Amino acid sequence: MVAAASKCRVCRGPAIIDLPRHNAHFCAEHFLDLCRRQVMKAIDKFDMLTTADRVLVAVSGGKDSLAVWDLLIDLGYQADGLYVGLGIGDYSDTSADYARRFASERGLKLIEISLRGEYGYDVPTAARATKRVPCSACGISKRHLFDKAALDGGYTVLVTGHNLDDEAAVLFGNTLRWDVEYLARQLPVLPARNGFPKKVKPLIRLTEREMAAWCIVRGIDYIVDECPMAAGNKHLAYKAALNAIETESPGSKAAFYLNFLENMAPVLAAATVAGTSASGSEALHACSSCGAPTTGDICAFCNIVNKASAHEPVPVELVMANGRSKR
Ligand code: AMP
Ligand code: FES
Ligand code: ZN
Ligand code: ZN
Repeated sequence: MVAAASKCRVCRGPAIIDLPRHNAHFCAEHFLDLCRRQVMKAIDKFDMLTTADRVLVAVSGGKDSLAVWDLLIDLGYQADGLYVGLGIGDYSDTSADYARRFASERGLKLIEISLRGEYGYDVPTAARATKRVPCSACGISKRHLFDKAALDGGYTVLVTGHNLDDEAAVLFGNTLRWDVEYLARQLPVLPARNGFPKKVKPLIRLTEREMAAWCIVRGIDYIVDECPMAAGNKHLAYKAALNAIETESPGSKAAFYLNFLENMAPVLAAATVAGTSASGSEALHACSSCGAPTTGDICAFCNIVNKASAHEPVPVELVMANGRSKR
């Protein structure tokens, strides 16, 4: 990760990681401190959390969500975990094991929901039954169950492990299309409103690579494999493009996203208030089946449940082999 003779910027001890965007190397202790400070800065700047909050962290078994759970506990927050079993073959079975092991080793509470067990379908079957790309069926299912679990459990905030790379890639896609409505909503905090819990992303100032390093230094085992249904996902291409720019010009990725939040998001928010954007203008009412907020008669989640639970189970391989992997 770093040349042998490199020294920590803070203590001059042997460095374990170089962070070109900070133009510095860090030892393990001072790298962890830097991560804690970046999370505290994000939390303070956007009023994400207080220690009085009851926090629910959505954990996938991957590095980012386990790292954010670990960081929040380390910083003194009360945080339980939520794992959603998506039924994506061996990938889901293995990722569940990592989430369970993390929780049990630390005596933390992990809530588990199984799509197949509780709603009679899984993501590959939903993709086939609804003729949606897998990520769309997956995203709708996760968002609905995150909201429901947070509200049912009396949690005041739902946390996800989205990091700087994730948010910069989404911003890149929204900007390439000049999708003003999505740009106006791309904030690291969504306040609670009728039927939705408050949702926050404390890792927006930290990269994927930094979160992998956090896990290694802290001894956290996580699932390294990518979701087998991710092939063709545009965000992977956006991340690769941003990484190529970052290599040439360290700090570009953070400047792109964090300066958007600082300089552009307030402009878009003001335009929305003045009525020049349609963002959020559609009226919501209760889904006639589950009561969740929706713009239609039944919500997108109930629509998936109705179609997919009646469908015979479809394995991951079949969905990917039939070219439903495009986004
Ligand atoms: P992704 O959409 O897969 O990039 O994941 C973004 C965030 O959603 C992760 O950092 C987690 O916080 C959460 N997440 C993803 N998959 C799951 C899952 N199966 N169960 C619970 N949370 C998840
Ligand atoms: Fe797993 Fe989209 S369904 S990455
Ligand atoms: Zn040091
Ligand atoms: Zn519904």
